[in-house]
Amino acid sequence: MGKLNNPRLFLILILSYLSDRANGKVNFKELVDAKLKQLNKPAVKTIQSEDGDIIDCVDIYKQPAFDHPALKNHIIQMRPSFDLKKEKPSTENESSKPVVSQTWQRSGSCPEGTIPIRRIRREDLLRAESIDRFGRKPRAIVSKSNTTNQKDGHFPFINNTNIVLPTVEYESVAMLVAVGTDFIGATGDINIWNPRLSSPTDEFTTAQIWVKSGPADVFESVECGWIVFPNLYGDNRTRLFTHWTLDGTTSTGCYDLNCDGFVHTNPEIALGAALEPLSSLYGQQYYITVGMFKDPQTNNWWVKVGGDTPIGYWPGNLFSFLNHSSTLVEWGGLLFSPNVRTSNHTTAGMGSGHFASGLFGKACFIQNIATMDFSWQLKYPQWVGTWDNEFNCYSAYIDQQSNGTSPVFFFGGPGRNPDCP
Ligand SMILES: *[C@@H]1O[C@H](CO)[C@@H](O)[C@H](O)[C@H]1NC(C)=O
Ligand SMILES: *[C@@H]1O[C@H](CO)[C@@H](O)[C@H](O)[C@H]1NC(C)=O
Ligand SMILES: *[C@@H]1O[C@H](CO)[C@@H](O)[C@H](O)[C@H]1NC(C)=O
Ligand SMILES: *[C@@H]1O[C@H](CO)[C@@H](O)[C@H](O)[C@H]1NC(C)=O
Ligand SMILES: *[C@@H]1O[C@H](CO)[C@@H](O)[C@H](O)[C@H]1NC(C)=O
Ligand SMILES: *[C@@H]1O[C@H](CO)[C@@H](O)[C@H](O)[C@H]1NC(C)=O
Ligand SMILES: *[C@@H]1O[C@H](CO)[C@@H](O)[C@H](O)[C@H]1NC(C)=O
Repeated sequence: MGKLNNPRLFLILILSYLSDRANGKVNFKELVDAKLKQLNKPAVKTIQSEDGDIIDCVDIYKQPAFDHPALKNHIIQMRPSFDLKKEKPSTENESSKPVVSQTWQRSGSCPEGTIPIRRIRREDLLRAESIDRFGRKPRAIVSKSNTTNQKDGHFPFINNTNIVLPTVEYESVAMLVAVGTDFIGATGDINIWNPRLSSPTDEFTTAQIWVKSGPADVFESVECGWIVFPNLYGDNRTRLFTHWTLDGTTSTGCYDLNCDGFVHTNPEIALGAALEPLSSLYGQQYYITVGMFKDPQTNNWWVKVGGDTPIGYWPGNLFSFLNHSSTLVEWGGLLFSPNVRTSNHTTAGMGSGHFASGLFGKACFIQNIATMDFSWQLKYPQWVGTWDNEFNCYSAYIDQQSNGTSPVFFFGGPGRNPDCP
């Protein structure tokens, strides 16, 4: 302490400490501000939704996709060069109704030439693993699993062969898997629920469709469905989402418009915004029709909801495999939690939170499942199987209907119970 008796040195020490602290603070704040500025483009109009979301109507040519070096001079394709309406198989059933409404739509609409973007708030960024990883899927480790390992559950048995898929740490899945050589589209009506999570900070649950291609562990995928993901969105609402990656989520891709890639074209539907209404146990069932289709003229992968409403697309030139076609399509649920495949299993729900055996009204369903190949016909895929890697926690079941209607897929579960793990 002797040295601090020198008042001048003491003052210098204090000043340098204060300045370091201030610099540290400024740098972090600058980082957050810069990221917010990059994510939230200037709004032509702002809509305050009653659920707390803020929707910015952004000039369609100022959306995040245009930050991508490969898209600098991209000319937006405003509509797909194809129409699906006539080809879609229809299973009409009064006890389930289609939904395309989002909570924010009650509070206003976006003017022509703009698209609705859910605003990212400072607190959303501060919850992220890191500023760089905001809006991305949490880091996970892919383990090469094999059929002899019981812990990897029931692999899809397709065409008399067990299809061995990689198991990802922290992920439990219950899905219908279709293999093929040339899928250029996939669709399904996804029943909408609001399953409960047990930890708001590090869990999420989805009901979705994956369209994949490329090597098993560094695959390319485009995905769409609903998600409950409090750490990303700030609450436990059921939201419409998209996700994509070029390398099995190692270093590319993100949810919604949280990075440059997806080109949004629809003025009425916002990615990441809450869906309503929700289905209730043995009550009215609601679903959202979701589809992803490769445009024959541009190779862009379009997302459509509600049958034939285009939302936007991933430009074909992002991809090295999907620019041609997909070889693997999956429908079903993903539960992400550090507490899957542990002795202290999470109680987070997948689907409705009830097992597939609950069937219509109790379990989450996906109906009107179809894929499309270069014949341009939507049909129930030929080579399919189910995969539930923790089948005592979250299960998968194909209900082969009679009367010519296509099979309905049921999936989900409550997590921890006397048989799980
Ligand atoms: C498959 O799993 C078993 C048991 O975990 C292990 O002994 C075997 O080496 C694995 N085989 C391959 C090809 O990974
Ligand atoms: C299924 O098996 C049959 C007979 O072995 C074969 O001809 C066909 O190509 C297989 N289909 C797929 C998708 O692997
Ligand atoms: C969602 O969060 C709200 C408020 O924190 C809570 O009251 C509600 O029970 C939660 N719902 C679910 C399904 O977890
Ligand atoms: C897809 O991309 C790869 C890699 O850029 C390229 O070699 C291939 O020719 C492309 N295929 C099509 C159909 O565009
Ligand atoms: C089990 O997991 C929960 C949630 O992560 C935690 O709160 C609890 O302490 C854990 N219990 C044991 C016995 O590890
Ligand atoms: C509606 O569909 C579900 C499942 O596909 C079926 O269980 C139910 O009986 C159907 N309801 C009517 C009224 O047809
Ligand atoms: C199939 O059709 C018959 C005759 O119309 C009807 O009685 C039966 O309930 C139908 N089954 C299903 C599963 O819809």
